[in-house]
Amino acid sequence: MVMEGSIKKEGAAAPFYLPQSDECEIFAAAHSNGLPLLLKGPTGCGKTRFVAHMAAQLNRPLYTVACHDDLSAADLIGRYLLKGGETVWADGPLTRAVRAGALCYLDEVVEARKDVTVVLHPLTDDRRILPIDRTGEELVAAPEFMLIASYNPGYQNILKTLKPSTRQRFLSIEFDFPAPEQETAIVATESGLSADRVAPLVRLAGKLRGLRGQDLEEGVSTRLLVYCATLIHQGMPVERAILAAMIEPLTDDEDVKRGLLDLVTAVFG
Ligand SMILES: Nc1ncnc2c1ncn2[C@@H]1O[C@H](COP(=O)(O)OP(=O)(O)O)[C@@H](O)[C@H]1O
Ligand SMILES: [Mg+2]
Repeated sequence: MVMEGSIKKEGAAAPFYLPQSDECEIFAAAHSNGLPLLLKGPTGCGKTRFVAHMAAQLNRPLYTVACHDDLSAADLIGRYLLKGGETVWADGPLTRAVRAGALCYLDEVVEARKDVTVVLHPLTDDRRILPIDRTGEELVAAPEFMLIASYNPGYQNILKTLKPSTRQRFLSIEFDFPAPEQETAIVATESGLSADRVAPLVRLAGKLRGLRGQDLEEGVSTRLLVYCATLIHQGMPVERAILAAMIEPLTDDEDVKRGLLDLVTAVFG
């Protein structure tokens, strides 16, 4: 579990984020109205960066929890710990965010155990309360508290989808990989490689993404494009960087790999 509660330092800039559309306005409106927000979209398309950017913009601390199949309600809410023979209560990240009026980001929320969604229900309707059964407390969320969750609807796993009763409590934004022009600007900024050298990589990514659902489970992410451009910027030959950052991460199947390399030749000649 990753967790942090950092407040933007005075004068420190928000992490670079190039909006795809009006998502910043929607996020700000959700925050000022106390509404929870769900971000849907594939891995590596900018969801986490977006949340970090908005937390800095709104000047709120951010607690990020990477959900996994062992994550329980107690991990979020807190538990009694033994300290020098005494039991003391320790708030979990969700409880801390609720008390402090922070943002709490549950990354890949569908991975978490079922008891987690039960906790989210009273927090995501107009009561905005967090009952802590173990201590008998019932916290009312501070006005600036906001719950954000993300999930990847692309994973073909019917067991791991959000129940309608849960998802209908969230405003939702769908993310996808940025349009080519925007993605070129993002990858150039993140890697330092010039836009004219990034552009063909983005074109290749577009072709690889066209194979989503056929030969490939997932298309190449913006994150992998940034990795690829970073290696090239550092002096690695283009073909080698592409193999390491855009081909090998996508498949283990030798036949599929050969097919992908044909696409590389088609784009780069
Ligand atoms: N709109 C964007 N603005 C700036 N950087 C972006 C954007 N989209 C993607 N990135 C880059 O892609 C990387 C992966 O994005 P991330 O937010 O971690 O993806 P996700 O959380 O959707 O898996 C980021 O670290 C950043 O370098
Ligand atoms: Mg993420």
